[in-house]
Amino acid sequence: MEFRHLGRSGLMVSEISYGNWLTHGSQVEEDAAKQCVQAALDEGITTFDTADVYAGTKAEEVLGRALKGVRRESLEIFTKVYWPTGKGPNDRGLSRKHITESIHGSLRRLQTDYVDLYQAHRFDYETPLEETLKTFDDLVRQGKVLYVGVSEWSAPQIAEALKIADQMGFDRIVSNQPQYSMLWRIIEGEIVPLCEREGVGQIVWSPIAQGVLTGKYLPGQAPPEGSRATDKAGGADTIARFMNDDVLTKVQELKPIAADLGLSMAQLAVAWVLQNPNVSSAIVGASRPEQVRDNVKAAGVKLDADVMKRIDDVLGSVVERDPAKTVSPKQRP
Ligand SMILES: NC(=O)c1ccc[n+]([C@@H]2O[C@H](COP(=O)([O-])OP(=O)(O)OC[C@H]3O[C@@H](n4cnc5c(N)ncnc54)[C@H](OP(=O)(O)O)[C@@H]3O)[C@@H](O)[C@H]2O)c1
Repeated sequence: MEFRHLGRSGLMVSEISYGNWLTHGSQVEEDAAKQCVQAALDEGITTFDTADVYAGTKAEEVLGRALKGVRRESLEIFTKVYWPTGKGPNDRGLSRKHITESIHGSLRRLQTDYVDLYQAHRFDYETPLEETLKTFDDLVRQGKVLYVGVSEWSAPQIAEALKIADQMGFDRIVSNQPQYSMLWRIIEGEIVPLCEREGVGQIVWSPIAQGVLTGKYLPGQAPPEGSRATDKAGGADTIARFMNDDVLTKVQELKPIAADLGLSMAQLAVAWVLQNPNVSSAIVGASRPEQVRDNVKAAGVKLDADVMKRIDDVLGSVVERDPAKTVSPKQRP
């Protein structure tokens, strides 16, 4: 495994991290979840990403149990707050009340005294930014949170948060967690240039486009049984944006590029996001331990300019680049 700084902070993270959205507490049984976490640890992954909202809070519980007994100092545990964790109007968003209550729930479920990174899972238009940032800063001072970050915030939102933190002397955001893959490059235009200047690192999600970039979904054919595209508990909906014949046909054309390099398609996809120096870590998901073992081999792989160009030439117009696609709900969900 290779390690990178989380943005300009002193924290080192494994350049491939493991996340449990849609899998732990939902798509896969606890045994399989534990095997995936063990495979991640065996392969040198030290950074684990979850969120209060995943599987209605069950994902944090599963991760807490799977990591029990592992030396805490050898791990970086990331979680998030914003999406609803209950029915009440205060069980969501980035108010002082919800953040404070949510971190206590997360620490309990994860069976830890602190998280290494606490992330605002979306921007909350219904809470003053000062209130959110002051609350995050208080959690840092209390030792419950070591670093703070955001997820899917736009460039102007990140810039405003950094300005307020500097004016008020609050702890600065060190990371952003956006979707980023060969197919989804919307951060490259505005977010990456800002974050490079400001020392904010990207921890990118769905680097394999939820499995699509493995090439296992064939155009015009039903998805393989047991894959995310068949997961009625949520996976099938979230992967749908990539499940069209245009995209799936182009993805098949990447196979000779991966083969020439001696890489699996998943490794090529993960290696591709890691070529961007503003990326601190690529969070991979897995429903089976062998997927973790496959994907982790992308660590340290260098892709030269010719390979990057061949990929661009194949994918052409199916790549999404519009920065306006980074959006948070105008009202709390
Ligand atoms: N901040 C946010 O808003 C946000 C949103 C989404 C995700 N995330 C984070 O990012 C993490 C990763 O997201 P993701 O799960 O979508 O990432 P991903 O790595 O793009 O997709 C993972 C899925 O692809 C399939 N897969 C992975 N490796 C494979 C392989 N070698 N061969 C065949 N299939 C393979 C598996 O699904 P099947 O086996 O079921 O097909 C696996 O669960 C999440 O766990 C979460 O921590 C954050």
